[in-house]
Amino acid sequence: MTTISVGMLGCGTVGSGVLTLLNRGDNQISESLGVHFNIKKIAVKHPDKKRGLNITKDLSFTGEIENVINDPSIQIVIEVMGTLDQAYKAIQQAITNGKSVITANKELIALKGPQLTKLAHDYHVDLYYEASVAGGIPILRVLNESLITDQITGLTGIVNGTSNFVLSAMKTDHSSYEESLKQAQSLGYAEANPIKDIEGIDAAYKLSILSQLAFGHSINLKQLKRKGIEGVTSNDINGAEVLGLTIKPAVIARQKDHELFTLVGPVAVYKQNPLANVNGVENSVLVTSTALGTTSYSGPGAGSEPTANSVMSDLLAVTKHILLEQIGTSFNKTTDDIGESSLMN
Ligand code: HSE
Repeated sequence: MTTISVGMLGCGTVGSGVLTLLNRGDNQISESLGVHFNIKKIAVKHPDKKRGLNITKDLSFTGEIENVINDPSIQIVIEVMGTLDQAYKAIQQAITNGKSVITANKELIALKGPQLTKLAHDYHVDLYYEASVAGGIPILRVLNESLITDQITGLTGIVNGTSNFVLSAMKTDHSSYEESLKQAQSLGYAEANPIKDIEGIDAAYKLSILSQLAFGHSINLKQLKRKGIEGVTSNDINGAEVLGLTIKPAVIARQKDHELFTLVGPVAVYKQNPLANVNGVENSVLVTSTALGTTSYSGPGAGSEPTANSVMSDLLAVTKHILLEQIGTSFNKTTDDIGESSLMN
């Protein structure tokens, strides 16, 4: 059994979901991969706070990020604290210390993704961020792997669970905007500052990450046409309904003649459009590409366990690389030994 030491930065909605899934999947992971994850340290703002986690193992909390990123025994750092500057510094330091990093931080990847990717490449470590876009849907893996040789010409989607939850509740339950936003917050879908959800800022970060992978370049967030859902009224929703339309919080990117058209905001879609039936916290991304035509990817877009599941899939991807490296190192050692002994003969 190989033990892999992991450090975590943050332990909120996503972090506690990761601990729950690790705890639940412990036996399965050891049986299938021969690996045991040791969560060595978790850096949080208030290390002494009672957390009510349903975890069988003892956890070690610290108030210092440095205790995690500078611990030489920690091989993988999971960043789920969600700040920009502090997370950027911590991840840079972790990478230069030779650790692979998994993050769910969309703001950070939207704004600093290319720099961090280059740094990770220079230090021969992994940087994965599947949880940063569309919660539990493995859309980044699709763009990075399945569609890597295809030419993507367009993306259309719903990538903010909170906005979709609010508009869906206003339509089907006739809830008020305020009530449904409060509910999304209590379910752990909204950002710490929900303005980022309802003004389309969170969706803009996600569209930028999708564009980095689909079209090879980020979008200029300052020039992006962005609108939130805060101006959508029950009248708008009912009026659209009468005309056979549904208002959805969409993101759109279209590549044409080397130009990228992008938009974030509420749009009215026909009932026949696949996005019309994406409700509640669900997200969906429709990808148009030359070989495949249009493919769609849907699922839970926010929430503790769905988002944590994406972190887990990154954790397993990094672990497989570490295991392969170990095999490579022991193979090199063995061939070195053979080399030496045959020289001696
Ligand atoms: N606040 C985000 C959302 C969380 O509602 O989609 C998942 O990224």
